Amino acid sequence: MSAKPCEGPVKDLLRFITCGSVDDGKSTMIGRMLHDSKLIREDTFRALADDSRRYGTNGGDVDLALMVDGLQAEREQGITLDVAYCFFSTPRRAFIVADTPGHEQYTRNMATGASTAQLAVVLIDARKGFLQQTKRHTYICSLLGLKHVVFAVNKIDLVGYSEDAFSRIFQEAHNFAAPLGFRSVHVIPISARDGDNIIARSARTPWYIGPALLPYLETVDVYSDALSKPFRFQVQWVNRPNSEFRGYAGTIASGRIAKGDAVVVPTSGQTSRIQDIISDRASQDAAEAGGAIVLTLEDDIDIARGHVLCSPSQQPEVTNRFAAHILWMDREPLISGHSVLCRIGTSLISASISIDCKIDISTRARSPGSSIGLNEVAFCNLVAAAPVAFDPYVDNPKMGAFVVIDRHSYRTVGAGMIAFNLDRRDERQASQPVVDKSVRAALKRQKPAALWFTGLSGAGKSTISRLVEARLHAAGHHTMLLDGDQMRGGLNRDLGFTADDRIENIRRAGEVAKLLLESGLIVLCAFISPYRAERAKVRELFQPDEFVEIFIDTPIETCMARDPKGLYGHARSGELTNFTGVDAPYEAPEAPEIHLRTAGSNPGELADQVMGVLASRGLVGRS
Ligand code: ADX
Repeated sequence: MSAKPCEGPVKDLLRFITCGSVDDGKSTMIGRMLHDSKLIREDTFRALADDSRRYGTNGGDVDLALMVDGLQAEREQGITLDVAYCFFSTPRRAFIVADTPGHEQYTRNMATGASTAQLAVVLIDARKGFLQQTKRHTYICSLLGLKHVVFAVNKIDLVGYSEDAFSRIFQEAHNFAAPLGFRSVHVIPISARDGDNIIARSARTPWYIGPALLPYLETVDVYSDALSKPFRFQVQWVNRPNSEFRGYAGTIASGRIAKGDAVVVPTSGQTSRIQDIISDRASQDAAEAGGAIVLTLEDDIDIARGHVLCSPSQQPEVTNRFAAHILWMDREPLISGHSVLCRIGTSLISASISIDCKIDISTRARSPGSSIGLNEVAFCNLVAAAPVAFDPYVDNPKMGAFVVIDRHSYRTVGAGMIAFNLDRRDERQASQPVVDKSVRAALKRQKPAALWFTGLSGAGKSTISRLVEARLHAAGHHTMLLDGDQMRGGLNRDLGFTADDRIENIRRAGEVAKLLLESGLIVLCAFISPYRAERAKVRELFQPDEFVEIFIDTPIETCMARDPKGLYGHARSGELTNFTGVDAPYEAPEAPEIHLRTAGSNPGELADQVMGVLASRGLVGRS
C-alpha cells in the first residue's frame, strides 16, 4: 500500500480500533482519511474501491483488509482477516488502525484489536441512529479498558446534513457512554463518501462546532496514561546464560524504573534493588512503560516467568479470589463452576469460575444465570490455584486483563477483566506473612502432591497405596491416605453405588484431597473412581505437576479370583447390584501418569516403581 509506515517515537503513535457493522462505512472512512491527507493516491483509492466491489465483503464499501499488502491470494478467495491492521502517519502522529469485522465472532476480534488500542472509533449510520449494536460495541470497548471513544456519525449527507438527526444521536451517545468510565467522548458528524469533517470542518455542517475527525485523532491525549501509573514489570523469562548472570526479561507494563530503585515481588514479598537495566545489549540508567528490557537485581531472589516486579511503595493486590467481568468468545458456553486456565500477564494458572450474574451488553441490566454463550458477558467470581498479583483493570489494563483458556483444547475461550479482590480487607495486609500451601509445604520440606490410585475393586489399590505411603513416610515425608471404605464410613456415609452417588463420592474425595494438599501433605487416594470424566474433574482441582494418576491395572478375572471381601461372589449371584466390573462400568484411564500392570509383580515391586516415578518427577528425592 502507499500509506507511509509509522515512524518516530512511541509517544506520537495512536492505536485505535474501528467498530461498526459492515455497512456503516468504517473502511471508507479510513480510506477517505488516507486519501484526503494525501497518503494514498486517487488511483489507489479508486483501485481499492474497485477491488472492494469485486472481492470485498463490505457490500461495495472500501474493504480495509484490502489495503494490507500481500493479500492477493486471500482476497481472491474472499477470506476475511480476523483483524486487519493498517499503518499510516501524518506529520503530527503515526496511527495503527485495527479493523474488527462485525461477524459472529465479533467480541473475539474486538478484544484482539482493543488489547493494544487506546481509542475506539464507533461508526454510526446517521439514518439508523444509535442502535443496540452500537451500545454493544461501546460497552465492550469500555469493558476492554478503552478510555477514549469517538462516535463517527457517518452518512450525514444522506440525512440532508440534518442538525436534528445529529443532535438526537449526540444526546443518546453521551447518555449511554456517561456511566462507562471513558475519559473522553466525542461525537462527530461525517460523510466518509464525500469527505465532510474528515480532515477539515465541513461547510455543510455549520451547526457542528467540534473538530474534524483526523485533526482530533492527531491531538487527543492518550499517552500520559501508562507512564503515570506505578512501576509494573511482568517477567517473561529468566535469562541465565551462565552462573554469573541472572537477568529478568520483559516489557515494562507501566511506570518508570531507574538503577538503584527498590522492587518487590508481591506474591512472595521478597525485595531487592535494580542493579542494571539492559536494553539493546547496552546498560541504561532508567526505562519506562513500553520498554523491552532485561533487569538485574542486587540480590539473588526467587523470580520466575510469570512473576511481577513492582515498586514497594505502590503494590498491586495479591489474592487467589477475585471478581472479574468475563467476555465469552467460544461456541461452547461457559458454565458456572467450570475450571479453566487463565493467562494473567505472563503467568498461567488454573482457576474455577462461578457466575455471579449475567450482564446484558445492550442495556447493562444484570440478571441471574449459570451459563453464558458466545459474545455474552458475565460478572464472575474466580478462585485461582495460586495467588495472583493484579491491579483492577480500570486502573491498569496490563495488570488486570486475562485470557481464559480451555484446559483441554488450549483454545482461547474468553477475555477477563479483573474488578476487585474478594479477600477480606483485614487479611490483605501486605506486611502480614501469608500462611499458604507453599509455606506449609516448605516447613515439611516437601512438594505437596495428590497420588490418585484408580482401578477395580480388589485390583490392589489399597495394598499398593499403603506400601507407597510407608516408603514415603520412611523417607521423612508427611502423608495422608484416603480410601473408599474409610470415606464411605464417615463423610460419605449418605452415598451408595449408583452413578450419581459415585460421582458425588469422587467429588468429595477430590475436595478433601485438595484441602489436605493445601496443608502441604502428599495425599494418597485409593478409589475405584470408575468414570473418566470425574477423574478429569479431580485432576482440574490441582496444578498440573501436583497430580499423579496411577492406574492399578488388574484383569477382572484376577480381581474376581482374589475377591478379598467376597463381594464379587455376592455380585455375581445377584445379591449385590451396581458392582463395578460386573454390572457397572469401569472406564480405564487413557493416559495415566503411572500405569501399573499388576500381573507377575509383587506389591512391593510395584510400590518401588511408583517411588521411582515420583523421584523422576522431582516430588521425592532419589533413594
Ligand atoms: S467408587 O466407585 O465410588 O469410587 P469406592 O472406591 O468409594 O467406589 O468404594 C469402593 C469399595 O466399596 C469397594 O472396594 C468395595 O469394598 C465396596 N463396595 C460395596 N458395594 C460396591 C459396589 N456396588 N461396587 C463397587 N464397590 C462396592
